[in-house]
Amino acid sequence: MQLFSHDDKATALGRAPLFRNLSRAELVELAKVTEDLEVKDGKVLAREGEIGHEFFVIVDGEVVVTKGGQEIRRLSSGDFFGEIALIWDSPRRTATVTAATPLRFFVLTRQSFRSLISHQPEIEEKVLDAVEERVNATESGGI
Ligand code: CMP
Repeated sequence: MQLFSHDDKATALGRAPLFRNLSRAELVELAKVTEDLEVKDGKVLAREGEIGHEFFVIVDGEVVVTKGGQEIRRLSSGDFFGEIALIWDSPRRTATVTAATPLRFFVLTRQSFRSLISHQPEIEEKVLDAVEERVNATESGGI
């Protein structure tokens, strides 16, 4: 089910910290290539080891990130996930991400996500910082 009109979607996108510095025109463009979806809790959005095709930004709700069946993190409104398999050479998901509550989120395809980060160095930097932090967290946690 689509939740927002193009205009509302642009406004909602602008609330995510990742997109905070985009101009109105850039948000409107981004809204055109972004899907807005809603799922029930329990829905698996990324499965460890599977090939990943999408990037997600949480509008409302919480997800649990697990690796080898163990919880490593919870993410909520404004957070993003699914970036690693779209950036690294390996297209496989590094963790499983499951909705822990009813979840509203934005989705970008691999192509739209890669186009976005190649045109927006600030977003690319935020995404790469998160990747580094997440990979380090996972490794130092011994998972
Ligand atoms: P990806 O590997 O594409 O799919 C699973 C996602 O889980 C991954 O991208 C990250 O977005 C997220 N993820 C993996 N490890 C962590 C972590 N330690 N903390 C938060 N999120 C993570």
